[in-house]
Formats: sequence, C-alpha cells, structure tokens
Amino acid sequence: MSLIPYALTRRFLFGMDAEAAHDFTMDMLARGQGSPLQWAWCHETIDDPIELAGLTFPNRVGMAAGLDKNARCIDALGAMGFGFVEVGTVTPKPQPGNPKPRMFRLPEGRALINRLGFNNDGLDAFVRNVQQATFRTQNKRRHPMLLGLNIGKNAATPIENATSDYLTCLDGVYPHADYVTINISSPNTQNLRALQSDEALDSLLGAIAERREVLAQQHTQTDSKGHKSARRVPIFVKIAPDLDEAQVGVIAATLQRHGMDGVIATNTTISRTAVQGQPHAQETGGLSGAPVLEASNQVIRQLRAALGSRFPIIGVGGILSEQDAISKIRAGADVVQIYTGLIYEGPGLPSRAARAIKAMA
Ligand code: FNR
Repeated sequence: MSLIPYALTRRFLFGMDAEAAHDFTMDMLARGQGSPLQWAWCHETIDDPIELAGLTFPNRVGMAAGLDKNARCIDALGAMGFGFVEVGTVTPKPQPGNPKPRMFRLPEGRALINRLGFNNDGLDAFVRNVQQATFRTQNKRRHPMLLGLNIGKNAATPIENATSDYLTCLDGVYPHADYVTINISSPNTQNLRALQSDEALDSLLGAIAERREVLAQQHTQTDSKGHKSARRVPIFVKIAPDLDEAQVGVIAATLQRHGMDGVIATNTTISRTAVQGQPHAQETGGLSGAPVLEASNQVIRQLRAALGSRFPIIGVGGILSEQDAISKIRAGADVVQIYTGLIYEGPGLPSRAARAIKAMA
C-alpha cells in the first residue's frame, strides 16, 4: 500500500508543466527505487499467472511503453504491481525529440496529447540501464516480472532505411529482453506509420524474422537438466488505432505469415473527435487516455476476429479504471497495459486492475 494519497501527489504534479512533472517523477523513481522511499508508490503484485507467447506473465496488467524511454526506472515500476513492464521506445542513436512544449494534459477528457518524437539517450545507454535493473536477481516471486524492450527508428534515418535501425536495435536489446516490441505506430516520427501498410510491413517483418532466427542460435539457454537450446525471444508488433477493418485484416495476416508472437493494440490516436473543443485538443501529436478506449477496443475486436482465439493480443489504450481493464479483456485482449491511467489515477491502478481481471467470471 502506498503511504501518500495520490490525490495529493497529483495536485502537486498537475501544478507543473506536463513534461516537467514527468521528468521530476522519473528522477524520483530512479533515485528511490530499491530504497525505503519505494514505499511511497509500492503496491501489491496480484498473482494471476497466464501463459502467453511461451512466457509466464505473473498477472495481466503491464506498464505501456513511452513512460520510461531510457529504462531508468524498471525496478520502481515493478514495485507498483505490474506483471510486466515495457520500456523504450529506444532508437539506435540518441536524439532530442521535437521542440518543447510537446506534452499536454486534457483533464476534462482524462487524456494527454504528446508529440515527444522518441526523445531518448540511444541504444547503448538504454542497454546499460537495463543491465543495472535488479528485478531479475532480487525477485523471489514464483513468477518474476517480465521485461519488454520497445524499439524504433531515428528521426534522421530515411524511411527506406528504417529496417536497418530496427535490426540494430533488435541486435542490441535481444539478450536482455523477455520480449521485444516493434513500434511502427507512433504518430510523432514522420512516415513511421506507413510501415504498417502491406508491402512495407511485409518487408520489415521478413527482415526481423530472419534476424531473430540468427539471434536465437547465437543466444542459447540452458534448462534445469543442463540441456542447451536456442533462445527465441518473442516479438510483438505495436499498431495504431487509426486503421480500418481491411487494414487490420492485412496486418493480422502479415503478422501470422512472419511468425510474429503477438500484437500490441494500440498506440495513441491522431483523431480528435472525442475531445473537440477542449483546451489543447488541437495540438499536434498522439492522443491517449479515456478518449482512445473505444477506438482501441474496436481494433482489438477486429484483431481477435482475424487472428483466431490463440494469437496473443496485448490491449492498451484508455484504461483508467477496473471496468476499462475488464472491457479490454472482453474485447479480446489476453493481457493489458496502462500509461495515461497511471498519470490520472496513480500507482494503485495496476493492482486494482489486475485484481478485477483476476476476479472476472
Ligand atoms: C506514449 N506511447 C508510446 N508508445 C510506444 O510504443 N513508444 C513510445 O515511446 C511511446 N511514448 C509515449 C509517450 C507518451 C507521453 C504517451 C502518453 C504515450 C503510447 C502508449 O504506450 C500507449 O500505447 C498509449 O498511450 C495508449 O494507452 P493509454 O496511455 O491510453 O493507457
């Protein structure tokens, strides 16, 4: 149980500029993780294991990518009760992202708009930070928390060379990941979402699948009987909510054709229909939070129909309550992730959502 009511923390943080509040919080989490300060945001990890893509997820609620782009706060986020934490998006080289201001709160809509543009310290720093996290060595739980590493491309890399950036990142993160996410759905990197279209996706995923086979042979694992085998790290692909049913169908077929292990649906939306007239609604960028719940649930329903009952779907977008989390599982997600809900509802939400999903009939 956290010691400080989140209503107080939120009043303080919402008094600051959105990105300044984010940076302040991340610094505090990075400094406080593993120390007694961690009790300020610590919550129970609900035990509700599920097998997915060959992994055992300790419960069905994860941290979505983008909060911890540089992988500095993995242990702190784990202490909030998440069953899995996804960090990144990381790009091969460090890059500053777009000019500030680039992150906005829409409190009336319980939403955010961001156009950060993959600001991050680059692959080398990211991997160093991941290696410093202690959750794998300190964790005494029956099912340890899982770590997802989310990869992208540098803004300066022409879209025709995007594959090379993804392969560089895949090589770098592979030994350290429980799963890798290929992010092709941020609206804030020019032309990135074009990688979701038929031929581009086919070519990108073909190259990723081929490289994964090579990496699996290079990185062996040893079982309890001392037998060595190739370590095949699951790969998930993260898609946008702004797709029609035909596009979702093509993506689903392409994922299966290339042996991808799961799909994360969805990223932020470029639509503003749900927040029209609200302050900041016209800012360029990706909208997240309550207004994307239904749009991403719709994509999840379409994916489930196209992919059949066994293909792993990670549902994300607009979870601000237990009921929202349940709605995503009912739409067809196997597990869910949260970002904006953490900002509005605080670090108690992951546990509450995981408990509610566990209790589902
Ligand atoms: C994001 N998101 C995101 N996703 C991703 O794959 N890589 C990233 O770097 C980021 N960055 C990012 C920054 C900010 C400020 C926000 C709000 C979001 C998208 C995020 O992981 C999630 O898919 C969406 O925000 C929808 O979920 P929520 O926020 O409604 O729970």
